[in-house]
Amino acid sequence: EKGGWPSFMSKEVSEEPEAIANTLRGRINNGAVEIPELDGLDELFEGISRVVVIACGTAAYAGQVGKYAIEQWARIPVDVELAHEFRYRDPVIGPDTLVVSISQSGETMDTLMAVKFARERGARTLSICNTQGATIPRESDAVVYTHAGPEVAVASTKAFVAQIAALYLLALHVARVRGTMSAQAIAEQVGELEEVPAKIQRILDTESPRIAELAHWMADTRSVLFLGRHVGFPIALEGALKLKEISYIHAEGFAAGELKHGPIALIEPGQPVFVIVPSPRASALLHSKVVSTIEEIRARGARVIAIAEEGDAAVLPTADEVLRIPLAAPLIEPLLAVVPLHLFAMGLSTAKGLDVDQPRNLAKSVTVE
Ligand code: M6R
Repeated sequence: EKGGWPSFMSKEVSEEPEAIANTLRGRINNGAVEIPELDGLDELFEGISRVVVIACGTAAYAGQVGKYAIEQWARIPVDVELAHEFRYRDPVIGPDTLVVSISQSGETMDTLMAVKFARERGARTLSICNTQGATIPRESDAVVYTHAGPEVAVASTKAFVAQIAALYLLALHVARVRGTMSAQAIAEQVGELEEVPAKIQRILDTESPRIAELAHWMADTRSVLFLGRHVGFPIALEGALKLKEISYIHAEGFAAGELKHGPIALIEPGQPVFVIVPSPRASALLHSKVVSTIEEIRARGARVIAIAEEGDAAVLPTADEVLRIPLAAPLIEPLLAVVPLHLFAMGLSTAKGLDVDQPRNLAKSVTVE
């Protein structure tokens, strides 16, 4: 079943390009987004004043990435909430709220209970799910499936990138229904999305050996930090979660701008820090801020591994290692930047001789609250 791969996770990371291509397939027509599952469901999006995304773990990080796209493209405020937190407070939701749940398995009890709770409060519900006919989509008004294929490894990888792709399709669909984007602007983003599978493939082909080597040298590391800004922030959180899950190494993700508000105190000589560097083409300001963050932590002895776009020379004098991703539009970058982090977590787990697919204490699907 592993098709010659040493683990399900390695197979599933190698399938990230395909997971995205399959999620886009049949939903794009001549630069326009046409999601058959949402045909005739325009009223689901009419008159909504906010979107609340509910999910757990990696799916919640996909939701955090999706927030940037839904707000930017469809101009609706989005809150992303952990399902188990949402469910046990008194949220302000009602018929004007679209609750979007995200779940690979479609069986996560925390998320399911939150969806039921949202429906009881009169909210409209849409689920993004990877498992046909699972409980969460059955309990929702609408579903947009990710077509990542079965994911076996406990650590979610190809489902994560497929969830982001599905959220982007949804954001563009809602942008059209609400008239917040021109057909041409939508077509440009669609074009960018269609290029993602080949770009991920390039990262897998060119960076895998170096990342495995890096992970090998870091096998005794006790703690790794991840920094990002904007859409790079949820990617930092995802990088940290993957490392905790399968390498049992203390890892934390931070918004890079938050560093001086506390976390910089953690930086001591030799501390490995992954930094996701945004493209200078999209925002010179954001880029320069991240480059100065690298300088600040390096001055305190951090060992910096930057993830930066091809040709970004500003990171060369500042970072210890630079992992490259192809050029892409700003909202596409997270789909690329996460790939080295998935490879790194897998490499480190392998270097430590651990069971990559079945980490201790964890189940693939958490069906208890
Ligand atoms: O099946 P779900 O997407 O609802 O699962 C949610 C989380 O349990 C899941 O993403 C978990 O965080 C993964 N093990 C992360 O790699």
